[in-house]
Amino acid sequence: MFKNKNILIVVSGSVAAYKSATLVRLLIKMGAHVRVSMTHAAQEFIPSKTMAILSGYDVLTDLFAGQGADVVHIAWAKWAEVIFVVPATANIIGKLANGIADDAPTATVIASAAEKIVVPAMNDVMYNNPAVQRNIEYLSSDGWLLIEPSIGFLAEGYEAKGRLPEPDMILSEAAIRLQAKSGLLHGKKVIITAGSTREALDPVRYITNRSSGKMGFALAQAAAEQGAHVTLITTVTKPAIYGVNQILVSSTQEMFDAAIAAFETADIFIGAAAVSDFKPEKTDHHKIKKTGDSGLTLKLVQNPDILKTIGQHKTHSQIVVGFAAETQNVEAYGADKLVTKNADMLIANDVSRSDIGFSSDDNSVTILTRDKQPEFLDRAPKITIARHIISRIVTL
Ligand SMILES: Cc1cc2nc3c(=O)[nH]c(=O)nc-3n(C[C@H](O)[C@H](O)[C@H](O)COP(=O)(O)O)c2cc1C
Repeated sequence: MFKNKNILIVVSGSVAAYKSATLVRLLIKMGAHVRVSMTHAAQEFIPSKTMAILSGYDVLTDLFAGQGADVVHIAWAKWAEVIFVVPATANIIGKLANGIADDAPTATVIASAAEKIVVPAMNDVMYNNPAVQRNIEYLSSDGWLLIEPSIGFLAEGYEAKGRLPEPDMILSEAAIRLQAKSGLLHGKKVIITAGSTREALDPVRYITNRSSGKMGFALAQAAAEQGAHVTLITTVTKPAIYGVNQILVSSTQEMFDAAIAAFETADIFIGAAAVSDFKPEKTDHHKIKKTGDSGLTLKLVQNPDILKTIGQHKTHSQIVVGFAAETQNVEAYGADKLVTKNADMLIANDVSRSDIGFSSDDNSVTILTRDKQPEFLDRAPKITIARHIISRIVTL
């Protein structure tokens, strides 16, 4: 992502300024062309000499020093393809959000059409100050990419939000956001279901299945990488993925309600959850007790069919993708489901194999559509399979 790119690092006067030296090193290792501009305050924390040696360029610190016929800050502004303001103080955020260009770094940034990334670092009270938050929102609405500070040990000696994320984290988050901006699903709304539903028998017991939700999470990540706004309706609690809004549910009925509501304004629905076809006819309010030697007969009734209902409601501009988790005749059942559920694509996978499918990190699937030959994808990590599925959905 950053190889051969012209990257300007703007360093402002935060105690975290020392981390920008590592950022420069990492970018140079990746093959980027890096230049650095520093505020007056930044040089109190790290010498410009260090940054000059690391980047291989004189550091731009003074708007007027050394000005000949070339106007240096304009030349640098044109040269830069990506600008990182790392760390960004409350002060520089305020200036950049309001078009104030009273020193070399701010004048260069404001004169540049480059992609801009801001990574704030400051005391938590400062960060939560309404004026600072307002300025961050201004930058976001002006198209800046924001990488939020992390929660961690601050220079003040306590844990809070405001710490500059580690440079490798900054670069991987920036790469995801930059790729998403030009992604094939940029601006599209994608709904994905993931995980196994739980059908309660009583307050402590439930019927479920072995699905881990990994395939749905991989699809959410792959869609977000392509710039989609993803809503992931899931029964599984996992760390958030950038660009993915998670809705936590438990039963099929809850997943159904959330999916139907979200689908109204969606472009794409992907049903990757392993939903329970049946649920107990009644759920006991108290734990079911053992009585004598007799067994227990459970009566199950059908759950609502999420994929079928969504398939019936879809408009011409909406795409519906289902999964068929089968243990036999995988492709034939999948092809049948494609038609009966009115889906545009069906992903058939064999969940009887222990090396793929449920809980595994790998999968092997067959992609079925109405107008193309089935496409078999050999065993690969779920994220690789997910990226391929998303690229096929894009062609629909
Ligand atoms: C020891 C020290 C640490 C500071 N750390 C931060 C910080 O982490 N974040 C911040 O926004 N301001 C911090 N400041 C305040 C800024 O340095 C100050 O607002 C300065 O005017 C910023 O100028 P600049 O944005 O042009 O670099 C710190 C000040 C001192 C004295």
